[in-house]
Amino acid sequence: PTPSAIPVLGKTYPTDAYTNITPAIVSKVSRQLHLQDGHPICTLRALVEDHFADFAHLRSVSPLVTPYQNFDSLSFPEDHPGRSKTDSYYLNQDMMLRTHTSAHEVEVFSEGKERWLLTADVYRRDEIDASHYPVFHQMEGAKIVSSDEAGVQAMEEDSRRLEHELSQSNIIIEDVPHVSGTNPAQPEHDPRHSEIMAKNLKLSLNSLMYKLFAGVAGATKEDPLRVRWIEAYFPFTSPSFEVEVFFRGKWLEILGCGVVLQSTLDRANVANEMGWAFGLGLERIAMILYSIPDIRLFWSEDPRFISQFKAGDITTFKPYSKYPESYRDVSFWKPQEGLHENDVYDVVRDIAGDLVEDVKMIDQFTHPKTGRESMAFRVTYRSMDRSLVNDEVNALQEQVIERLREHLRV
Ligand code: PHE
Repeated sequence: PTPSAIPVLGKTYPTDAYTNITPAIVSKVSRQLHLQDGHPICTLRALVEDHFADFAHLRSVSPLVTPYQNFDSLSFPEDHPGRSKTDSYYLNQDMMLRTHTSAHEVEVFSEGKERWLLTADVYRRDEIDASHYPVFHQMEGAKIVSSDEAGVQAMEEDSRRLEHELSQSNIIIEDVPHVSGTNPAQPEHDPRHSEIMAKNLKLSLNSLMYKLFAGVAGATKEDPLRVRWIEAYFPFTSPSFEVEVFFRGKWLEILGCGVVLQSTLDRANVANEMGWAFGLGLERIAMILYSIPDIRLFWSEDPRFISQFKAGDITTFKPYSKYPESYRDVSFWKPQEGLHENDVYDVVRDIAGDLVEDVKMIDQFTHPKTGRESMAFRVTYRSMDRSLVNDEVNALQEQVIERLREHLRV
């Protein structure tokens, strides 16, 4: 069923055994929501850029990258699960859709940029529900300085400015050590320098969180904004952290970050510099700030969505009534060669597009005698813009079943 070549962004790519990109995904690569005036993703991007005003702002880098850029240049191990066809979209063995904006770290650092933000669409094969979509937007931010005393002092000076600013803000920070046995400085780094980088990273991001959330969270002396730092692991930073913000009674995971691995900077020919990087997911934050209940809405071309927003303003989204859902169940025997759930999700996405709201595996069964395995899924259909009729849903479900039979050989 795979054609011998597929056109993406004006170029044609030969297919091979790796090809798993679908037309539903190809149709997204030209949308550029982060550049659409008034779109919540665009406003949020501009807000973060404002905050890092003296950084270079990159916004139109193609989503097509090599596995080298996406993984190897960042020291991902050969057997990292992210590389697999079940997790990432490949045009062919040599070309893929970036899974994160970190894929561009080496090229941007090698252009000599020391402070930069890069906003872009990223692609991951994943489950289907109100907060997961195979395309979303990230902002990569990075700051490096020369790893001598002058560079390190410049970082410290900036940290003093940020510390002063934050001391005047209604914010409480739950911290972890900058560097520890489980979250170590890199062997190439003077541990004191590492601490200074991690500290500047934390202050820079605490300040950004305050800018983004204090307004909507109503941070006051009595009820300050709460930000929490957690030790994390990424193949391309050490020490590494995750940041969470307490909002409406819940801790929300906001971003990942850390001190850039020296091997990344070596590859970019800036071996005598050091610094930090972070990766911020925009949809999750925009859903919270604008009260947007379903991630598909960002892709809606219904004027009732986009007309609610004005460039630069964060306002509360007013749902234009929730249209009824309609679900269908499908069960099947797994083929001999096995089956990944993400393959089922892409079949449904490709046929139903944004009319699918949720797909859940609801049952699994292994026949006690033959050992054959079966699975059952519930597919929930709902349009964001209108009521679906039964005939239409039946037709979609029939196509899903046919495609599961033909392509996945269930
Ligand atoms: N790229 C990481 C992700 O998508 C986030 C990250 C960026 C972590 C930069 C550390 C440094 O999860």
